[in-house]
Amino acid sequence: MKKFEEHLIKEAEKLNNLPSAGREGNVGWESPSNIAFVKYWGKYPRQIPANASISLTLSKAVTRTRVAYQYDPQKTGTSVKFEFEGQRKGDFANRIEKYLSGLTELMHWIAHTEFFVSSENTFPHSSGIASSASAMSALALCLCDIEQEIYQQEYPGDFFRKASFLARLGSGSASRSLYGKMAEWGMTASCKESSDEFAIPVPELHDAFKGMKDSILIIESGKKKVSSSLGHDLMKSNPYAKLRFEAAEENMQQLCKVMQSGDLGGFIDIMENEALSLHAMMMTSSPGYVLMQPNSLEAIHRIRDFRGRTGLSIGFTLDAGANVHVIYPEKQSENIRQFIDNGLKVLCEHGTIIHDEMGNGPVRI
Ligand code: DP6
Repeated sequence: MKKFEEHLIKEAEKLNNLPSAGREGNVGWESPSNIAFVKYWGKYPRQIPANASISLTLSKAVTRTRVAYQYDPQKTGTSVKFEFEGQRKGDFANRIEKYLSGLTELMHWIAHTEFFVSSENTFPHSSGIASSASAMSALALCLCDIEQEIYQQEYPGDFFRKASFLARLGSGSASRSLYGKMAEWGMTASCKESSDEFAIPVPELHDAFKGMKDSILIIESGKKKVSSSLGHDLMKSNPYAKLRFEAAEENMQQLCKVMQSGDLGGFIDIMENEALSLHAMMMTSSPGYVLMQPNSLEAIHRIRDFRGRTGLSIGFTLDAGANVHVIYPEKQSENIRQFIDNGLKVLCEHGTIIHDEMGNGPVRI
């Protein structure tokens, strides 16, 4: 077991005497999605990443989660009702119940609590934008708030670190959504404070990266054809996995350097290499699969061609899907937005583009 988890278990043991008074209340958090520049792809048991990753926290693509809870120390059992955008979702309720049951060693009170969770996304849920990062980070924050209310005391340690830890257990990439601007998760030689157990904020961003833009080209909406869970799993037998994990660590180290010096060209090279490597891993898995569509490739060619012609700092990254994230600095956004509207919009399903940007992280609602 890892260090921080041991610490949390000890803290929970100290609180072993559950508060005798029952309590009920409502809490809520809004938490953003994020897009990784160095990708987390491949993991070990208990959501330990095979390599470190770094991401941009988004601003507009967020999940809003509200939790009504009833804690009663006399009753034993955890129950969850879940509503997504006003509709009851039994399958998700079961998933959350399973997730919460896995947390009782860290939060004993969960075993005596009924939850009613209601959630909504600001982005269309069929848009192909991953919602697990925003959803699990919002839920983890709600749990930390409920704990404070039940014990009637503020958490003595780093509240967001604990939330990041809990979010990670729900979905790896969710651990990074706890912090604004950019966040890093996973042990890497490039950052002394890094951890496999929780994410940390990237300190002191160079001016060149402030207000970074992410225009998401919706090439194909709808549910992903191959889930991230299955994708991570296939890395266990991928013959290139070891090389990939080494390359990711190398990219983390290089990325930290270019980010410190404000080298946008160097940044774009690494970011694009990461996106293509992620998809190469999918193609070389067994069975191999391709999530990019012809228009994803066309967008990539057009972005590179435009960069070559103009010298502007525009680059792309990809998630585990066909959509293309166009990444560019705030300072060049006027010219680049024109190109996106005139040159890339036609490649998108129903011309849909979500113009997002660097955000400040979760907020209580
Ligand atoms: C391609 O975080 O969705 O977006 O831990 O199984 O929930 P689980 O996987 P998930 O994987 C994200 C993969 C990725 C890259 C990234 O965000 O780093």
